[in-house]
Amino acid sequence: MSQIRNIVILTGAGISAESGIDTFRGGGGLWEQHRVEDVATPEAFARDPNLVHRFYDMRRAAIQERLPNAAHFALAELDAQWRGDLLIVTQNVDDLHERGGASRVLHMHGEHLKAWCTSCDIRSPWRGPLVNRPPCPVCQARTLRPDVVWFGEMPYQMERIYGALRQADLFVSIGTSGAVYPAAGFVQSARDLGMQTLELNLERSQGSHWFHETRLGPASEVVPAWVAEMLGG
Ligand code: APR
Repeated sequence: MSQIRNIVILTGAGISAESGIDTFRGGGGLWEQHRVEDVATPEAFARDPNLVHRFYDMRRAAIQERLPNAAHFALAELDAQWRGDLLIVTQNVDDLHERGGASRVLHMHGEHLKAWCTSCDIRSPWRGPLVNRPPCPVCQARTLRPDVVWFGEMPYQMERIYGALRQADLFVSIGTSGAVYPAAGFVQSARDLGMQTLELNLERSQGSHWFHETRLGPASEVVPAWVAEMLGG
């Protein structure tokens, strides 16, 4: 990994799997237990807000019981020691990157531990349920929704992500199936920009053929090994 100064790291549900947080696809994944159309679209929220709130209230409570794993801690170590630019772009809505100690983190699909008021448009830290329609801490309206990007909605901070990709020398993808765009398209952008690309995943993803290198294994093993390599260990 010669001549690497700036790095963009994309993470997905696979990095939190060993912390006991369900992934979305594959055996027993969330989208096998729930229909996306029922819980993860603006239309579903308009049709049955209680069902959607109950789904996210359950997820919000569950992640607070979970702990970061070795992969989160390794990325936090890299974040702390890496002198060049580094951005962890996560599709995950849990806070395990931050609880692992990472600070250069961008949540492109939102965060469970925030509530978004659709009246005053403010996002507030939130740990409890929303199904009982609590008042917004800022404007008191009872119009809080989960701060999660649903299917059909635009992910957050896309300009900042593409800006970081344009400056990067290395793109690394960890624990994602490559099933959901625009995140699944970042590797193609990275190739078009001429940078090195590396995939760390339990199994080959839908985008594996785009990567210069794929290393297979559980994130808690392959991520610390890669970070040690990057830090010259
Ligand atoms: N270590 C590494 N990779 C793992 C592990 C593990 N322990 N366990 C599972 N994986 C891999 C799987 O092989 C799979 O490729 O993680 C990937 C998880 O894929 P998905 O469940 O599809 O999750 P993700 O790619 O993050 O989904 C993208 O889709 O549902 C939407 O908005 C949601 O952000 C999510 C997006």
